[in-house]
Amino acid sequence: MKFGIVCISDRCFQGSVSDKSGPAIEECVAALMTDKEYRLVPDEKEMIIACLIELCDSCACDIIFTTGGTGFAPRDITPEATLAVIEKQVPGISEAIRAESLKITSRAMLSRAVSGIRGKSLIINLPGSPKAVRESIGIVYPILEHAVETLSGNTQSCGGNYGK
Ligand code: MTE
Repeated sequence: MKFGIVCISDRCFQGSVSDKSGPAIEECVAALMTDKEYRLVPDEKEMIIACLIELCDSCACDIIFTTGGTGFAPRDITPEATLAVIEKQVPGISEAIRAESLKITSRAMLSRAVSGIRGKSLIINLPGSPKAVRESIGIVYPILEHAVETLSGNTQSCGGNYGK
């Protein structure tokens, strides 16, 4: 599986802090990963859009995880940039992350993260902290392989349950 990992943070982009969440994502999905693309972008909508389009259309990433920019801070714009590039929303993924995360912290309701499909790529927004990244990937990990199989057009993997 080819992963896109996108750290979205003004402070990381400026170099004042190092990205710890991108490496946390990589660690969490290492067992599924055959290839990866890593990007670091500031909280600028047009730059996030360009980055996501590149990772979907040119790099053919199966799954793209973004980290950061999903909250209430004035420059948080990741969900809006994601909505501008996806063709189909996948609300269930972000709903599940929020619902399960609420069992850990009530602050989970402050994440405006979205998920969706562009072409054959699945984009999943994650919050910014390494802790939140690990918790969130733990929630979606069980569906990642099946999501990629069905996105590629392989319906066999559903066990013939279509139409039932
Ligand atoms: N989700 C999980 N699982 N664990 C967390 O610690 N932190 C929350 C939330 N989601 C958190 C979480 C907090 S404090 C915020 S502000 C929002 O994610 C948005 O984070 P972001 O602005 O870094 O994207």
